[in-house]
Amino acid sequence: MVLATSFFASLLLLATAKLMVPRTMVVHESRAAPPQGFVQSGAAPAEQQLTLRIALKQNNIAGLETELYKVSDPASEFYGQHLTLEEVTEFVKPTDETLAVVSSWLSENNIDAKPVTPAGDMLEIKIPVSQADNLLSAEFSVFTHTKTGKTIIRTLQYSLPAPLTQHVEFFHPTTIFAPPLDAIPKFVPASSAKRATPGSDDLPGSCTSTMTPACLQELYGIPTTSATQKSNRLGVAGFLDQFANQEDLTEFLTNFRTDINSSTTFGLETLDGGSNSQNRSQAGVEADLDIQYTVGLATGVPVIFISAGDDNSDDGLDGFLDMIVLLINDPNRPSVLTTSYGFQAETDIPLSVAINLCNTYMQLGALGTSVLFASGDGGVSGGQGEDGCGDYIPAFPATCPFITSVGSTGGINQNPGINEVGSSFSSGGFSNYFAIPDYQAADVAAYIAWLDSLGTIPEDGRYNRSGRGFPDVSAQGENFEIVVDGQFGTVEGTSCSSPTFASVIALLNDELVAAGKPVLGFLNPFLYSSAGQAALNDVMFGDNPGCATDGFFGHEGWDAVTGLGTPNYPALRTAIGL
Ligand SMILES: *[C@@H]1O[C@H](CO)[C@@H](O)[C@H](O)[C@H]1NC(C)=O
Ligand SMILES: *[C@@H]1O[C@H](CO)[C@@H](O)[C@H](O)[C@H]1NC(C)=O
Ligand SMILES: *[C@@H]1O[C@H](CO)[C@@H](O)[C@H](O)[C@H]1NC(C)=O
Repeated sequence: MVLATSFFASLLLLATAKLMVPRTMVVHESRAAPPQGFVQSGAAPAEQQLTLRIALKQNNIAGLETELYKVSDPASEFYGQHLTLEEVTEFVKPTDETLAVVSSWLSENNIDAKPVTPAGDMLEIKIPVSQADNLLSAEFSVFTHTKTGKTIIRTLQYSLPAPLTQHVEFFHPTTIFAPPLDAIPKFVPASSAKRATPGSDDLPGSCTSTMTPACLQELYGIPTTSATQKSNRLGVAGFLDQFANQEDLTEFLTNFRTDINSSTTFGLETLDGGSNSQNRSQAGVEADLDIQYTVGLATGVPVIFISAGDDNSDDGLDGFLDMIVLLINDPNRPSVLTTSYGFQAETDIPLSVAINLCNTYMQLGALGTSVLFASGDGGVSGGQGEDGCGDYIPAFPATCPFITSVGSTGGINQNPGINEVGSSFSSGGFSNYFAIPDYQAADVAAYIAWLDSLGTIPEDGRYNRSGRGFPDVSAQGENFEIVVDGQFGTVEGTSCSSPTFASVIALLNDELVAAGKPVLGFLNPFLYSSAGQAALNDVMFGDNPGCATDGFFGHEGWDAVTGLGTPNYPALRTAIGL
């Protein structure tokens, strides 16, 4: 990273006085015990090297949030005037004092640090367990994830010298016990080896049994003509060694997009040792789905598969951060990023770490990229099913206020007169970590008022009335026809919905760029505006059961199953002034 040299030169100058007096240590983060599913299985070897990240206090993150809303709110005179990397860096870089205090402490302890982010607000150090225990008054131990047998090294508590506490957000990974990432929808192979190609003539009939690009184009009015702007790229996030296979894509296009070149390819970017093996038997269901419903739907938009390995992380979380850092640094960063991976429970991630990662999406939004996440497939229970929970369990990053969370619909033909119905698995609800952002305050209040008007219901008291509501929007997510390792079959999940919505946004951006206008960037202030809401199909039916309740119900306007609703391309086009 180019910034490294100058950054550390300035650190040396600032690190003047060494404080040799013993310092009071203050507990910075702690938890009483490992969460359910993890057991402590012994001391960590004293000489084992740990790679730790240190998140420093950013100098003016509130200022960046103000700027984000200025450039993302259609009512603002600054709408569309996205920030430059330099402008974003000014807000997130630590103060000189923070740098001086932290660097002098590290150099007193003979520890080298390198910046992880362009602004230098996150540092990385490599030290043995014995030194980490001393430095942080911690007790790093081995913990085993009982279900998978995977071991990790964590501490239940760590402390910092008192003068550092106001400059350091957190050390990572320390008290985090994230279960494996949630993704990978179930693939149901088709009974016949190969499906008939649904032509647009037999719509919507065939679309009630299987969803294809032609169905989505018909249902949402998505154009079939090719995008024209090569600079406008759509990023598809890949994790967990999920590989997107070109032969599968070609076979998919041959069958489901007979109107375009079936050899259409996608680009590849990798980080943290990620790759994209083209050995067809290693094709991943999630990756194939994500690529087939972006290349196959955002016609002519250059799609890049961004594959994160796990070099830097044993919990998938640093890959999330590193992917955003990669994109922040890229002057040709995609205008839309879709991610179909996440954590089923917000509490899987410590609050400090969740806030930091969420603020990283804020940076990407300020730079003009729309960041979309699948809302999760665990209904209101975060996958805990009927009895595994009392209070509802919101997902992450779906609850981050600076991303657009996409839920699922299906059942387009179940009830006469009803077009779409929220999917029962579609995660939605209210954050316990993030407060209601202004852009949705009125809509969420109206929904909660409606729930209250239902009288005493089993849902009462299980959700946080002051938390950020999610999802923001939705799209079809059931019976998606895909090809994996040469086999035709179907999948369901919000993993289908996020690439679909992202493709819509990428095509709108293509038209905006062609018209000489800025891309949409952070979407939510627009989506929740009256013009935005009018350009979405309000989905008023369906629920997302869990925790032995029906969960939330679809309703007019925003609801915690389908958000504001599904895309109406021609109406969205008009709403953004095309
Ligand atoms: C189809 O796309 C491939 C890959 O980009 C390209 O090599 C080929 O020339 C294209 N074929 C046609 C007919 O445009
Ligand atoms: C492809 O992957 C499969 C399964 O991992 C493996 O058995 C096979 O040897 C691989 N083939 C090649 C050519 O690498
Ligand atoms: C509910 O959400 C608010 C806003 O984010 C938060 O401050 C509060 O701690 C949450 N309550 C619970 C019980 O988690």
